[in-house]
Amino acid sequence: MKVVTVVTGAGAGIGSEICRILLERGETVIGCPRRPGSEKLSALAAAHPDRFHEVLMDVSDDASIERAVADIEGRVDQVDRLFNNAGYYPKNEGSLTALSRDTLGKAFQTNAIGPLKVTAALLPLLRKGNEKRLAQITSLMGSITDNTSGRSYSYRLSKTALNMAVKNLAHELGHEGFIALAIHPGWVQTNMGGSMAPLPLGPASEEVLRIVLDATPDQNGAFLGPGGKVLPF
Ligand SMILES: NC(=O)c1ccc[n+]([C@@H]2O[C@H](COP(=O)([O-])OP(=O)(O)OC[C@H]3O[C@@H](n4cnc5c(N)ncnc54)[C@H](OP(=O)(O)O)[C@@H]3O)[C@@H](O)[C@H]2O)c1
Repeated sequence: MKVVTVVTGAGAGIGSEICRILLERGETVIGCPRRPGSEKLSALAAAHPDRFHEVLMDVSDDASIERAVADIEGRVDQVDRLFNNAGYYPKNEGSLTALSRDTLGKAFQTNAIGPLKVTAALLPLLRKGNEKRLAQITSLMGSITDNTSGRSYSYRLSKTALNMAVKNLAHELGHEGFIALAIHPGWVQTNMGGSMAPLPLGPASEEVLRIVLDATPDQNGAFLGPGGKVLPF
């Protein structure tokens, strides 16, 4: 049976790696980078022309989401899994006085509002899917319980909002068979994570996939990290 996965923020990092792994497993993938020109996605498109579709999507722009979803609707009859992976981490934003309204707004648009709007726009296709996985790639930095060091206001606040969105999605859609998850990938070697991160990209992305694909209905609304560890909201 054809299984279709949509991945946002697919141009680099964990998003592009999830696309690669699923394609190597023989599945169909719609990778949504914000802009064209990702060499990694070009290589995937060349290697898997029938099963990989690149569809541009800026998750902070409703018109872009609408265009992308119309494109996806023309290519597939259903979507089984959505990975809302696109993320924005403002650098140099330590203290309260460094906080700008623009940066805070951009973080919320990308990390919280975007994932909700993408989920809503894809819902008709997701309802036709068999697996019904809604994976929001969040961060432990969005955990209120785990916040022992402060700083990074925009990123923390926006990921906390995303975590709340997961709970709401779980309540609203769980009875339809959806499994909504907040997934913390760990500290991973990507543009965002940097080279000091302990987790290599490949294994960390495999682990994100494993957690989402193995999830059971009783995990609907859970906040999970590497090893499937339940994390505190
Ligand atoms: N790496 C870590 O240690 C770590 C830890 C915890 C959570 N995470 C989360 O993991 C997810 C993936 O991050 P990553 O580590 O793979 O970082 P990354 O390599 O920087 O990838 C982030 C991706 O999101 C895209 N993006 C940003 N804004 C977007 C928008 N408005 N619309 C569409 N795409 C957009 C970026 O595109 P551009 O290249 O065009 O900007 C980039 O491709 C993020 O949600 C992040 O918060 C990462």
